[in-house]
Amino acid sequence: MKLQYSIIISFLCSLVFGQNTSFEPGKVWKDTDGVHINAHGGGVIFVDGTYYWYGEFKTEGKGGNTALKGVSCYSSKDLYNWNNEGIVLKVEDDPNSEITKGCIMERPKVVFNKKTGKYIMWFHLEFKGKGYDSARAAVAISDSPKGPFAYKKSYRPNKGVWPMDFKEEYKLASTTERNLKSWSPEWVTAIKNGMLVRRDFKKGQMSRDMTVYVDDNEKGYLIHSSEENLTLHISELTDDYLDFTEKWTRVEPAGHNEAPAIFKKEGIYYMITSGCTGWDPNEARSFKSKSIWGPWEALGNPCFGKDADFTFHSQSTYIFQVQGKKDQFIFMADRWKPDNPIDGTYIWLPIKCIEEKPVLKWLDNWNLAYFTEN
Ligand code: DGJ
Repeated sequence: MKLQYSIIISFLCSLVFGQNTSFEPGKVWKDTDGVHINAHGGGVIFVDGTYYWYGEFKTEGKGGNTALKGVSCYSSKDLYNWNNEGIVLKVEDDPNSEITKGCIMERPKVVFNKKTGKYIMWFHLEFKGKGYDSARAAVAISDSPKGPFAYKKSYRPNKGVWPMDFKEEYKLASTTERNLKSWSPEWVTAIKNGMLVRRDFKKGQMSRDMTVYVDDNEKGYLIHSSEENLTLHISELTDDYLDFTEKWTRVEPAGHNEAPAIFKKEGIYYMITSGCTGWDPNEARSFKSKSIWGPWEALGNPCFGKDADFTFHSQSTYIFQVQGKKDQFIFMADRWKPDNPIDGTYIWLPIKCIEEKPVLKWLDNWNLAYFTEN
């Protein structure tokens, strides 16, 4: 009942003051210029009283998923009303640049590095014209959350380094396993035992869908879909967040997880991911662990109610905490529109943790009062 009052009050305020006062998942979200927000696969940070939302700037038509402009940024004081801060990492005209116009830049995430005072952006990079084969993690740096970000470099992470706890026998390459039929029991066992880790050992491991997480002790991690999207990797970042320490682990080998999003509540790490069905939605998964290094326990689909099997027709991208609110976590997801990517919409929902399980329920319209009223 209380919730209904707060939604009615916020609706009346929006009529009187012309401001957004709630989230409407899946609807067109207009910025303060009246234009649909263009920040897909994004992430949010909070700096000095302002939230910044970074995302993929998509364009119209079939080619609209390639990067023709770069990474966009919006700022907000209240999470409902967003100012367009423009393109903060621009694609380059130089055809030899790794981020030349027409490459693929996905899922940008920005974190602040307390030691260096710099803002660090990681994103998934695919070189122009190579489909999704490059599978690289790329990094850019800025002095300000509003950019501009200067492109630094891209990696295939953990080149020449085995993951922690990787058995000696797994390090030995077999010459026959590559001929196994995909998804046969033998093949699944071979993947679990590191067939693709061995394949990519010299070149570096793949990095497609990704997120960045900074822990309470300021250690940073890249969490990335690797091994042809079959296995998630968690790779520790150096103190400046610009490189890898060579400490890394595998999560859910052969589990086929994409779109990782992570948060920590009362000492427990939770992760929400998707399955792998391209731009089509699928059933989300969730996991928990007492340590970033695992073991991660599978908890099943965190979504409940209508369309829970399809993550409410969306795919996870990030989870952030409402500033200063211990128990208020917002799940961010994308409802992709691959035929006209610029039309993609945003699904933000409150996360409740019930008996150490993240729970997501659909809401047509909600505001931050939901956290205290439910
Ligand atoms: C699903 C991923 O989650 C997206 O970020 C994007 O890479 C699409 N696949 C491409 O098909």
